[in-house]
Amino acid sequence: MEWIKESLERLEDKLWAEAGRMGDKIPYIAEDGRYEKDMRDVNLSWWTNGFWYGMMWQMYQATGREGFRRAAEKGEKALDLALENFEGLHHDVGFMWMHTAVANYRLTGNAVSRRRGLHAAGLLAGRFNYAGKFIRAWNLDKTGWMIVDCMMNLSLLYWAGQETGDPRYCQIANMHGDTAMRELMRPDGSCNHIVVFDPETGAVAEKPEGQGYGPGSSWSRGQAWALYGFALAFLHTGRQEYLDTAKRAAHYFIANVAMTDYVSLVDFRAPKEPVMWDTTAAACAACGLLQISDMVPAEERELYRFHGERILRKLTEAYCCWDAERDGILQYGTAAYHRQEDRHVPIIYGDYFLTEGLLRLSDKAFMIW
Ligand code: GLY
Repeated sequence: MEWIKESLERLEDKLWAEAGRMGDKIPYIAEDGRYEKDMRDVNLSWWTNGFWYGMMWQMYQATGREGFRRAAEKGEKALDLALENFEGLHHDVGFMWMHTAVANYRLTGNAVSRRRGLHAAGLLAGRFNYAGKFIRAWNLDKTGWMIVDCMMNLSLLYWAGQETGDPRYCQIANMHGDTAMRELMRPDGSCNHIVVFDPETGAVAEKPEGQGYGPGSSWSRGQAWALYGFALAFLHTGRQEYLDTAKRAAHYFIANVAMTDYVSLVDFRAPKEPVMWDTTAAACAACGLLQISDMVPAEERELYRFHGERILRKLTEAYCCWDAERDGILQYGTAAYHRQEDRHVPIIYGDYFLTEGLLRLSDKAFMIW
């Protein structure tokens, strides 16, 4: 389709220009069209530090241009210090090392990259709480916390299990997935962001608000993590209940974005005013919808493909900055409902999911998860 072809050309031009400007910087949010801050100076363990490199691997794989590969390789070494000082890391090590080391290993067979990926998988597995059967979120006093975001990190465990032949990685991922299905997902297809367990007994203590509007509301990026995360869990395990959960999350997401012309509000159950968008949720959900479309029987495929494509088209046409002189592509990303400083800004993971989505639509995506 013409719009996909044109979007991919613009994407390649823009990412090529950004890669030329990036140097060794790890980017996060573009401010006034520039990635000024280097996340190596701000927080090397920050959860988004892999996405730029994931984008670079995607583009290298799609175009074969060596400049993308050189840009992709830069992050992995920089993150070694975070692995070494592991106390700053948490459940999001999947985002960080799937997009760097594991991507590198899958594409080039680099043995050092494989070791880095397995090291990160060991850290993730080590966060498992046996009483509650969940991978704990974040650090410090949050010993009993489980969050929906972690569904996206399970792929690192599935990969490590396959790579080593050790079933424990997969067992931990599945136990976490089962607990998430029971405690995070709601019967109507929406989800909680957080569940707090008693870390000693595993009993559920509370389900507080997270990055959405409030307790019981519906944070759209969390919904996208559930949609795509359960789809990936099905991909790696073939367990039908994971696909059914992903589909329920998808139906709920589709119904909600259809009300707002295919762009997601930050929270689907927040008051009508003020209107706040999070395009990153829509981009991530679109990738999940395309993944579901690839895994369901032929007669169901169009439902998921149609909506995934529709979201990506809307984002591409109305929410992207394609000026190659400016950093940051997908505008109107929002990190959390109640935080002002990173509201309606271009965030690196929005650009990653936009890139993956557009490449998926043209059958050029690399399976990074
Ligand atoms: N994983 C953190 C977030 O989605 O903001």
